[in-house]
Order: sequence, then structure tokens, then C-alpha cells
Amino acid sequence: MNKGIILAAALATGMGLGITTWAAAGGLQAPTAPITIEGKKPAKFNHATHTALGLACGTCHHDAAHKPRTAEAIAALPDAKQLACETCHNEKFANPKLRKRMDVFHARCKECHQAGVNGKKGPTGCSGCHVTQKKKAIEGC
Ligand code: HEC
Ligand code: HEC
Ligand code: HEC
Ligand code: HEC
Repeated sequence: MNKGIILAAALATGMGLGITTWAAAGGLQAPTAPITIEGKKPAKFNHATHTALGLACGTCHHDAAHKPRTAEAIAALPDAKQLACETCHNEKFANPKLRKRMDVFHARCKECHQAGVNGKKGPTGCSGCHVTQKKKAIEGC
């Protein structure tokens, strides 16, 4: 049995969800477990904590026109590569201020943690996000 048949069966026996949720039921969804954002200074990130704050996907995920991506638009993507920040924010990005990983991530993550959401603030100290590397000291921390 292929994926399509399982999906069709799941939809047929589904919970009366509208057609608009078809893509969301079968496509890319926010990971339920915490992820590690890889790089020179890996950082931890948990979608569940953030969506529980009521944040829409488009708070962090936008398209090539900088338009916020909805859950439905994300579900319809062929793979997760289009969501990876560095797919666009790399040395070729038009705006030189948004080429470096640290600038892009810190702008998105740290600025909100400082401002907070409904009175809840996020961690702003390096070790609040960055995974502690036991082997060698983290430069700059
Ligand atoms: C709110 C979360 C958060 C906090 C707090 C934070 N960072 Fe980051 N930082 C990230 C994320 C996410 C990345 C992207 C992961 C990567 O590039 O390794 C990143 C990337 C970086 C990079 C870039 C690595 C590269 O490839 O160029 C450096 C350096 C860095 N952080 C240093 C720090 C220092 C120093 C502090 C404390 C003063 C700090 N960060 C606090 C989330 C955070
Ligand atoms: C607070 C910020 C934030 C919010 C809100 C958010 N995401 Fe993400 N998401 C991220 C970051 C950061 C990554 C990792 C990007 C990278 O590695 O470059 C990511 C990665 C993903 C991935 C790829 C996972 C993987 O393992 O490759 C999917 C799928 C995803 N998000 C879906 C969603 C959906 C659907 C929503 C809304 C329900 C959502 N995200 C809301 C920040 C967010
Ligand atoms: C499909 C391409 C693309 C992807 C993927 C992408 N961006 Fe962007 N991003 C843009 C464009 C285009 C702009 C607008 C640039 C400008 O205004 O000069 C932008 C602007 C930004 C800005 C500055 C304006 C603002 O919204 O605050 C930040 C910060 C940012 N992106 C963070 C991220 C993060 C974090 C991710 C990964 C979760 C990400 N971007 C993924 C294309 C992308
Ligand atoms: C729009 C606001 C917002 C953005 C954007 C955001 N955060 Fe947060 N984050 C929060 C708030 C608020 C909390 C505290 C949640 C609570 O206390 O329930 C938090 C908590 C956290 C925590 C500690 C709790 C946990 O989930 O483990 C980590 C780590 C974290 N964020 C990492 C990140 C990283 C990395 C990014 C960027 C990729 C990011 N956050 C983007 C608002 C945000």
C-alpha cells in the first residue's frame, strides 16, 4: 500500500475536516520534538513551546517575497529545504545585513525573547539557546 492510499483512507474516515486541511493532513508539519539548529554554534529550538504561545508559522517562516507562510502553504511545500533560513539568507542574499546566520537568527530569536509575548520572555543568555559544547569553550560567550 502506498502513502497516497493510506492518506486517502485516512481522509475518507477522517474527522470531517474541510478540503482546505487536505494539504496540512498530508504535507510538512511543524516537528513535535525539539530540533537543533545546526551551525558553528548549534542552538535548540522547540516548535511546541512557541506555537503554544499562539505564534503563527509566519512569525518565523516567510517566502522569497518576505510574505509570511501559513501552515497550509508550508504543508504544500515539496520539502523542508525551502524553510531553511540559509536557503535564502546566505552570502548571495540581496540585503547585506541579512546574510550572516548570526544576524538573521539573533534578529528573529533574541529580539522577540527580549520583547516577550503576553508578558512571557524567552532566554537571552547564550546558553539559553546554544547547546553547551563540552569539548571546547564556546567563543565569545
Ligand atoms: C534566542 C536564542 C539565542 C540566543 C539567546 C543566542 N543565540 Fe547565538 N544563535 C542562535 C541561533 C538559532 C543561531 C544559528 C545557529 C548557528 O549558526 O550555529 C545562532 C548563531 C550564533 C553564531 C553564529 C555562528 C556562525 O556560523 O556564524 C554566533 C557566533 C552566536 N550565535 C553567538 C551567540 C552569543 C555569544 C550569544 C550570547 C551573547 C548568543 N549567540 C545568544 C540563537 C541564539
Ligand atoms: C518562533 C519561530 C518559528 C515558528 C513560530 C514556527 N517555526 Fe518552523 N522552524 C523554525 C526554525 C528556526 C526552523 C529551522 C530552520 C533552519 O534550520 O534553518 C524551523 C523548521 C521547520 C520545519 C523543518 C523541520 C526540519 O526538521 O527540517 C518545518 C516543517 C516547520 N518549521 C514547520 C512549521 C509550521 C507548520 C509552523 C506553524 C505551525 C512553524 N514551523 C512555526 C522556526 C519557527
Ligand atoms: C525563501 C527565501 C527566504 C527564507 C527561506 C527565509 N527568508 Fe528571511 N527574508 C527573506 C526576504 C526576501 C526578506 C526581506 C529582505 C529585505 O527586506 O531586505 C527577509 C527578511 C528577513 C529578516 C529581516 C526582516 C524581518 O522580518 O524582521 C529576518 C530577521 C529574517 N528574514 C529571518 C529569517 C529566518 C529566521 C528564516 C528561517 C526561519 C528566514 N528568514 C527564511 C527571504 C527568506
Ligand atoms: C515571536 C517571539 C519569539 C520568537 C520569534 C522566538 N521565540 Fe523562543 N521563546 C519565546 C517566548 C515568549 C519564550 C518563553 C516561553 C514560555 O515561557 O512558555 C521562548 C522560549 C524559548 C526557549 C526556552 C524554552 C524552550 O522552548 O526550550 C528556547 C530555547 C527558545 N525560545 C529558542 C528560540 C530560538 C532558537 C528562536 C529562533 C529560531 C526563537 N526562540 C524564536 C518567544 C519567541
